[in-house]
Amino acid sequence: MSTPAKARDRSAGISYQELLDSDLVPPSDVLRLENPYQSTLTSVSVERYRSRAFHELEMQRLWPRVWQMACREEEIPEVGDYALYEIGRFSIIVVRTRDGIRAHHNVCRHRGRRLCDFDGHAASFICPFHGFSWHIDGSLRSVTSEWDFPQIDKNDFDLTPLLCDTWGGWVFVNMDVNAKPLADFLGDLPAHFSVWEPEKRYIEAHVGKVMKCNWKLCQEAFMEAFHVINTHPQLLAAIGDENSQYDAWGNFSRAITPNGTPSPHIRWNPSEQEMFESVTMRPLDGPPSPEVPQGMSARALLGAGARENLKKIVGEDHPALSDAEVQDSIYYTLFPNFHPWGGFNRIVYRFRPWQDRHDRSLMECYYLSPYAGERPPPAKLHLLGEDEPWTDAPELGLLAKVFTQDTFNLPNVQLGLEAAQFDEVVFARYQETKLRHFHDLLSQWVAE
Ligand code: FES
Ligand SMILES: [Fe+2]
Repeated sequence: MSTPAKARDRSAGISYQELLDSDLVPPSDVLRLENPYQSTLTSVSVERYRSRAFHELEMQRLWPRVWQMACREEEIPEVGDYALYEIGRFSIIVVRTRDGIRAHHNVCRHRGRRLCDFDGHAASFICPFHGFSWHIDGSLRSVTSEWDFPQIDKNDFDLTPLLCDTWGGWVFVNMDVNAKPLADFLGDLPAHFSVWEPEKRYIEAHVGKVMKCNWKLCQEAFMEAFHVINTHPQLLAAIGDENSQYDAWGNFSRAITPNGTPSPHIRWNPSEQEMFESVTMRPLDGPPSPEVPQGMSARALLGAGARENLKKIVGEDHPALSDAEVQDSIYYTLFPNFHPWGGFNRIVYRFRPWQDRHDRSLMECYYLSPYAGERPPPAKLHLLGEDEPWTDAPELGLLAKVFTQDTFNLPNVQLGLEAAQFDEVVFARYQETKLRHFHDLLSQWVAE
């Protein structure tokens, strides 16, 4: 009997690092980093996606203890501005005070009504039920019929605080006031992003949609390029899906999928012109595409075009205007649910349970865009219900159509798993690196 062929470590296509070697404008050093993930995890229990008990474990052991992105600083620019962040049964007020941004549990300490129902601006938080009130820093302001509450120590009746810190223009909160600092949790992530300056971007679009699947199942569809071959086949002429590079460090992982290069899966050799038109998605009834000049690659031409547009916004000398950083898909995941994209791609995702349900999730897509001059006001959340299509959010442009393809699968994965008669789902060793890294961390937090 012959021994089975040893599985290859990666696809036979050109590696991402080899592709970078031939780019005309070389990338920032951060794209040259490689740290392949080593782990024995190759499968996880189906129960992680379908069981109420596992959801409850997450609600007890993960969300109340982990750092999570609550909002952008630009959404609460003035003292008194506040945003609500909901995670499962928890609701958090994130408010700008004179002494910086603070976070409190959104629960009145009298008989427990939610204090705030919507994002807004307040001089103080006044409970709509009986009128107890708190200053925006969380300290008690007034007790209605104070004579009737002799047991209340006014110096010890603050709103329940959370830890709150910022990085890159994002506000993070942690319900565990004894947690290690955010900087420790982020590790090298800010160093990876330093050249891309996420703090200098603004929310150009913010769309959320209720998805008919578990939050992990949803985010995992955005953590690999492995599904492109069947889910987004229209992209194959000019996307290096199987050439993607996957790495992990500490609490974050990264995938990089090159554009302007053909998929190793296809059996024909697209011309540079065909690759160019695939990426620019020229409508069949639209004007003809520009010709890719003789001797030039589609990737170089696409890079040059994107670079010229960006220069007008970020300046001629910005150090990150490489061919790779203006067109590749560089998608990071910070455990457990935050997905900022690197380079000049505008995408940031966040995924979480919808309300307190294990079989529904809220997927959000932000476009964080660079700007010249004064910071434009941030877009407000455009929330789509579970039966409203992504294409109802024209601010997402062509990406809405790509999401529609993903959304076609996801409820059917949930339905499949609900009925599965086997115990585990299996992960590809390399292309599903980010899923394996995520689930290893989740195991540590939830310790089933
Ligand atoms: S529940 Fe808030 S004042 Fe009574
Ligand atoms: Fe997809």
